[in-house]
Amino acid sequence: MSNSMKLIAGNSNRPLAEGVASYLGLSLAKAQVKRFADMEIFVEIQENVRGEDVFILQSTSFPANDHLMELLIITDALRRSSAKRITAVVPYFGYARQDRKPGPRTPISAKLVSNLITHAGADRVLTLDLHAGQIQGFFDIPVDNLYGAPIIARDIKQRLQLKNIMVVSPDVGGVVRARALAKRIDAPLSIVDKRRERAGESEVMNIIGDVEGYNCILIDDIVDSGGTLCNAAEALLKNGAAAVYAYCTHGVFSGGAVSRISQSKIKEFVVTDSIMPTEAVKVARNIRTLPIAELLGEAIKRTATESSVSSLFD
Ligand code: R5P
Repeated sequence: MSNSMKLIAGNSNRPLAEGVASYLGLSLAKAQVKRFADMEIFVEIQENVRGEDVFILQSTSFPANDHLMELLIITDALRRSSAKRITAVVPYFGYARQDRKPGPRTPISAKLVSNLITHAGADRVLTLDLHAGQIQGFFDIPVDNLYGAPIIARDIKQRLQLKNIMVVSPDVGGVVRARALAKRIDAPLSIVDKRRERAGESEVMNIIGDVEGYNCILIDDIVDSGGTLCNAAEALLKNGAAAVYAYCTHGVFSGGAVSRISQSKIKEFVVTDSIMPTEAVKVARNIRTLPIAELLGEAIKRTATESSVSSLFD
C-alpha cells in the first residue's frame, strides 16, 4: 500500500481495526486515546501524519457518546497535525435511527452527528449498511456506504448450503435490503408486516408471501433488543416455514437480546463484527460472527488509490 497512508483506531473495535490493518499490510498508527479523571478524552498522535491520507476506524457503538467523542477528537488532532485527507471509517453509524422528526419538538440527531463529524475536520466518510441511505445527504462531504450483502450472500452459499431458500424482510422498511439479497442469491422474497389494529392490542404479524416448506433467511441492518427478528421468526414458523435463519449487519444487542436470541427458534443468527462482539455474543449457542475486515480494507485501499468503490458491489 501507499506509504503516505495511515490507519488509526479509536477504542470501539480494535480487533476489527487490526484485521483491516493486516489486510492492508500496515501497522496501526501510534496514538494514545486516554481519559482524564473526569472522563474527558485526550488524544495524542504519536507519529508524523503531515501530508498523509489518514483513515480513522471507529464505530459509534455502545457507549455511543464516548465513541463518537473519541472519533471527533481524533479527527481534530489529525487536522491540527496537517493530515492531507481524513476519512472517518464508521462501520456502525450510531444515531442513524434518529433520521427524521418522529413528532413535534424532537431532534434529527443523525443530522447533528453528521455535522459534528464534518466540522471536526473529516473530508470523507466510509460506512456500512446505513440504516437509511438518505443519511448520505446529511453530509456535504463524500460518503461511501458499503453493503454487507455480497459477504452475506457468499456466506449463505458456502456455509448454509440450503435448498429451497426464501429471503424475508422482518418489516416493511427493510424490503429494499431484502430484495437486494434475494436477487444476489436468486431466491424469492417475503415480507413480515407488523400491524397493531387498535391501541393497546398486541401486534399482529401478517406474512406477505407463502413461506410454507421454505428455509427462511431473515435479513436486517440492526439487531437491538432482538424483538423484531425473534418475533418474525415465530410468525414464519407458525406459517409453516421449514427453518429460520437470520443475518444482520450491526449487532447492537442491548439488554437481554443475546439470551432472547439464544432461546429463540432461530437456527443460526449471523452478525458482522461492525460492532465488537461481546463475550456473551461469542459464546451464544446460535450466534456466529461474520468478519468484515476484508471488505473495509478493500474499500479503504480503493479510496486511497482513487479507484472505484461501487464496483465492489457489481
Ligand atoms: C428498524 O427499523 C431496524 O431496521 C431494526 O429492525 C431494529 O432496529 C431492530 O430493533 P430490535 O432488535 O430492538 O427489534
